[in-house]
Amino acid sequence: MTKEPRPGPMKKLSAIEHEFGVPFPGVILEPARWTQTALKAMPAGQLHWPELFGRLAPVVLDIGCGNGRYLISSALARPDHDHLGVDILPVVIRYARKRGNQRGCTNLKFAVLGGHELLEKHVPPHSVAEIHCYHPQPYYDPAQIHRRLITPSFLALVHRALVPGGLFVIQTDNPGYWQYIRAVVPVFFDFAEQPGRWPDAPQGRTRREIIALQKKLPVFRAVAFARREYSAAEAVALAETLPAPTFAADRRLRDLDRFA
Ligand SMILES: C[S@@+](CC[C@H](N)C(=O)[O-])C[C@H]1O[C@@H](n2cnc3c(N)ncnc32)[C@H](O)[C@@H]1O
Repeated sequence: MTKEPRPGPMKKLSAIEHEFGVPFPGVILEPARWTQTALKAMPAGQLHWPELFGRLAPVVLDIGCGNGRYLISSALARPDHDHLGVDILPVVIRYARKRGNQRGCTNLKFAVLGGHELLEKHVPPHSVAEIHCYHPQPYYDPAQIHRRLITPSFLALVHRALVPGGLFVIQTDNPGYWQYIRAVVPVFFDFAEQPGRWPDAPQGRTRREIIALQKKLPVFRAVAFARREYSAAEAVALAETLPAPTFAADRRLRDLDRFA
């Protein structure tokens, strides 16, 4: 009679990570359950969501997703939605992918890509349920102002990407950016300001929001829905009538940006 093999030492199956003292959503699974969230090669043309995710489900985008904290929490909380996060910084996407992989997410992808380029070249019109944009960089240096993400033409692309009535979440801790957002976003979206904390993440949905809240900065946010009365062409025409984001960013917040 052969002997039963003796059980080996107990393996640690999960671990909770923290960021600024706040638990990072989900747990690290055993390596056998890790997934692959990297979207390394964009197609030359438009993405085909069912091909990318292997099913047909509502799509959620996070533009300038940083380390992916919000998108990972949403992917874990909403397994019936598919998620794509993009950022221009490869290092933050590496962190996002690693954490998404370690949490076994199959409804989540991350790519190194600019938000404007993603929406202009790769997202089929009216194919996305939600677009989230948390703390776009204010770019304090006048020579960098042209890099600001939220512009009228970007908003026309957000409007085109969303299904009619689709959700756009926009959030910043920069007062100058917020003033601009409040002036231009309502042209394309039914705009509702959301004071207080996110009920699902009172300590902050994103890394930058956590930093802002811990520094006692006000966080400005809106939940907005794509207005149904404009076609994509009309939204582009509207965008041409709106001002560029040439607001003065509050220099007192500059140091904080080095952390995010
Ligand atoms: C202040 S961080 C906020 C990151 C994250 N959303 C958060 O709230 O923690 C702004 C992020 O936007 C990214 N970014 C800047 N311009 C971008 C663009 N045109 N397209 C996509 N990401 C951009 C930066 O690399 C950076 O990771």
